[in-house]
Amino acid sequence: MTSRTALVTGASTGLGAEFARQLAARGHDLVLVARSADRLEVLAAQLRSARGVRVDVVVQDLTEPGAAAAVVEAVTAAGRQVDLLVNNAGFGTAGRFEDIPDGRDEDQLMVNLVALVGLTRALVPGMLTRGHGAVINVASTAAFQPSPFFATYSAGKTFVLNFSLSLRSEYRGRGVKVLALCPGPTRTEFFDVVGERAAVGRFMTAEAVVRAGLRGLDRDRAYVVPGLGNQVTAHLVPRRPRRMVTAIAKLVARSVPDAPAPPQPLGRRAAAAAAQATP
Ligand SMILES: NC(=O)c1ccc[n+]([C@@H]2O[C@H](COP(=O)([O-])OP(=O)(O)OC[C@H]3O[C@@H](n4cnc5c(N)ncnc54)[C@H](OP(=O)(O)O)[C@@H]3O)[C@@H](O)[C@H]2O)c1
Repeated sequence: MTSRTALVTGASTGLGAEFARQLAARGHDLVLVARSADRLEVLAAQLRSARGVRVDVVVQDLTEPGAAAAVVEAVTAAGRQVDLLVNNAGFGTAGRFEDIPDGRDEDQLMVNLVALVGLTRALVPGMLTRGHGAVINVASTAAFQPSPFFATYSAGKTFVLNFSLSLRSEYRGRGVKVLALCPGPTRTEFFDVVGERAAVGRFMTAEAVVRAGLRGLDRDRAYVVPGLGNQVTAHLVPRRPRRMVTAIAKLVARSVPDAPAPPQPLGRRAAAAAAQATP
């Protein structure tokens, strides 16, 4: 049983909420970050009462410039020190690149990449000074190949995977572990946002995905692909020739651009662009 503190982004639902539940069960105190204050407070109350751990809530839109700094400021003001950072918050976009609403991909990059890098940059130096700590970055099986009709999302997840592998190498022997968790389709609200049309393959539960991730961290793995089917896709599909790999990925996703898009909650940039476009 440990009382070390884990900060989980995107903790209001899905994989993030499941990380919070499983980490609380392991005795971690928690800082939960997302936009949905009500959902975070309900989860925090449940975990305090069920597990007796300390849980703080930080309500933050990670599309905002300076979001990572604002989160760290709130954590510091609460007198907390983060030993495990779970960069989980994220969403996807799907469809022809030119059809993605203006600003939506930029918002995605702010959440999936900029906030992830900012929080890592802000919190890892303290871990290095203390000589212990860990980072879990949630990537995706989309990280392993180019994915037409998921161009920004898959390229972003490749960034997350390679960023994690690079940092892991830098911090080897310095007490800080870095793991990239690369799930395939998982039953969460992710597909309400990106659209069911984007789902290719068999779904796993968030419970199984997070359990695999935490087991991987315990074993100091570089990255984890949960589920046999996902491992086959990630590891056995050839990487070259790249044109052929891209063509196959396009064939698999061929129905995506013409399927109806879900009503998408707009982030900061997309909302501003929509407001400007309205006469
Ligand atoms: N589900 C899958 O099939 C799958 C597969 C591979 C990888 N992933 C990755 O897994 C991670 C978690 O996704 P999920 O499946 O759990 O999806 P989800 O159920 O939709 O949860 C997404 C989480 O991210 C938070 N979030 C979204 N936009 C945010 C913003 N602007 N600011 C702050 N928080 C924000 C949401 O909270 P609020 O809405 O309350 O802000 C929510 O807590 C993502 O990085 C995703 O790319 C998912």
